[in-house]
Amino acid sequence: MAGSRVAVVTGANQGIGFATVKELCRTFDGSVYLTSRNENLGRAAVEELEKLGLRPKYHQLDIDDESSVLRLRDYLKATYGGLDILVNNAAMLILAKDEDSRELFAENTRSVVQTNFFNTFRVCNILFPLLRPHARVVNLSSSMGHISQIEGQSEAASTLRAKFSSPDLSYKELLKLMNDFLDAVKRGDHADYGWPRKNWVSYIASKIAVSAMTRIQQRDFDVDPREDIIINHVHPGYVNTKMASFKGVLTIEQGAAAPSWLAMLPPNDATNPKGAYVWHDKTIVDWVKGPLPAEY
Ligand SMILES: NC(=O)c1ccc[n+]([C@@H]2O[C@H](COP(=O)([O-])OP(=O)(O)OC[C@H]3O[C@@H](n4cnc5c(N)ncnc54)[C@H](OP(=O)(O)O)[C@@H]3O)[C@@H](O)[C@H]2O)c1
Repeated sequence: MAGSRVAVVTGANQGIGFATVKELCRTFDGSVYLTSRNENLGRAAVEELEKLGLRPKYHQLDIDDESSVLRLRDYLKATYGGLDILVNNAAMLILAKDEDSRELFAENTRSVVQTNFFNTFRVCNILFPLLRPHARVVNLSSSMGHISQIEGQSEAASTLRAKFSSPDLSYKELLKLMNDFLDAVKRGDHADYGWPRKNWVSYIASKIAVSAMTRIQQRDFDVDPREDIIINHVHPGYVNTKMASFKGVLTIEQGAAAPSWLAMLPPNDATNPKGAYVWHDKTIVDWVKGPLPAEY
């Protein structure tokens, strides 16, 4: 199998990740890995797709567990010798409640930012060396990950927006911005630094960081000796999943449409989006200037 093509979707036992595996099984000429942190849930999801006549493969992956990511990397290397598609879909949401103590708010914020940003960043750092020429990577951001979610005209908000959206932002600076955010949340003064007060702030911060990270990653791929590697960040829409408390307006298949399209961008096509923030209807939205086409 070494040399045959392979795709990996993280957090794929349910929701948008599951539907992305389903779509890739139909369209991608290679092995498609449904991964999940819980093996039983993942295997049950594979069986569900098998009933539709699809043939996804399975590998365990908990992005919060470095050894799990390393096991997947070693397996892919030994079995396929590389990686052609990576969809960084796994994420979590904990909405803060007004009555949360500062300690609980800080703890929950750390968990959300750790999984959605720091651990997704680690997955990239561990798996990117496997990417082959023409590989496609898709990072699931959100409408909440648009820079305009840092709202208002205060000097602090303008400074924060300018830092995240700088075309020269480095990984080191991005990591510092996120660690500073976590420290400010712990102190209870994150709003003084331009962050929104709202109950969504942990998720907003984590997804802004994922989007900012994607822009740096494409800059790196542009000068990578491996040809034509592309990464984009996507808002999948307001999708009817557990994360959206099953209130979303799009089906999981509709939510998987833009991520799957980005995963399958054709080789060497000058019209391909690169490092772009892509809306669920496949239009490209300016991540720095906006405006957002809709609330979701
Ligand atoms: N739904 C929306 O309206 C919406 C809007 C904008 C962006 N998004 C983004 O779209 C992506 C998919 O969300 P969804 O709505 O499909 O959510 P979901 O149905 O809750 O699915 C999230 C998936 O991520 C997995 N996951 C969480 N932590 C993980 C970890 N540490 N390691 C591996 N897997 C982990 C979950 O596993 P378990 O089943 O074990 O919990 C689950 O399979 C997320 O990045 C989300 O932020 C969703």
